[in-house]
Amino acid sequence: MRLAIGCDHAALPLKQVIYQYLFDQGLNAQDLGTYTEDSCDYPDIAQAVCEKVSTGEVERGILICGTGIGMSIAANKIKGIRAALCHDVYSARATRNHNDSNVLCMGARVIGSGLALCIVDAWLDEAFKGGRHLTRINKLENSD
Ligand code: RB5
Repeated sequence: MRLAIGCDHAALPLKQVIYQYLFDQGLNAQDLGTYTEDSCDYPDIAQAVCEKVSTGEVERGILICGTGIGMSIAANKIKGIRAALCHDVYSARATRNHNDSNVLCMGARVIGSGLALCIVDAWLDEAFKGGRHLTRINKLENSD
């Protein structure tokens, strides 16, 4: 699976852990920043990752900031993006099954790296169930 990942300054160490975890599994995510702990603006990073997803250059994106909230707000403004803020494994599974989410957001100040990796695993493994859920997603796409 082709992936892009990004974070702001509040989530750099967690992004590095996730990037390495993916790499160790043979998933070479495109890391679109930020690369230092200097303060930066999460909408810029969300834009960079979501552009890759919405153009189809990658299939999914992972965005991390302090809370995950700013990233998810920014990502969901971009056409074709269904970003899910998940801090538990159940939600990570459910959002793939029901929402076909293509961007996962998490907050590095909210959860630790152990749980974050479990959430990433669940979110990457789980499939979209289609059917009635597809009808609902089509309504989202047409609501702009
Ligand atoms: C940065 O201080 C913080 O505001 C950001 O990481 C994020 O939590 C915003 O939603």
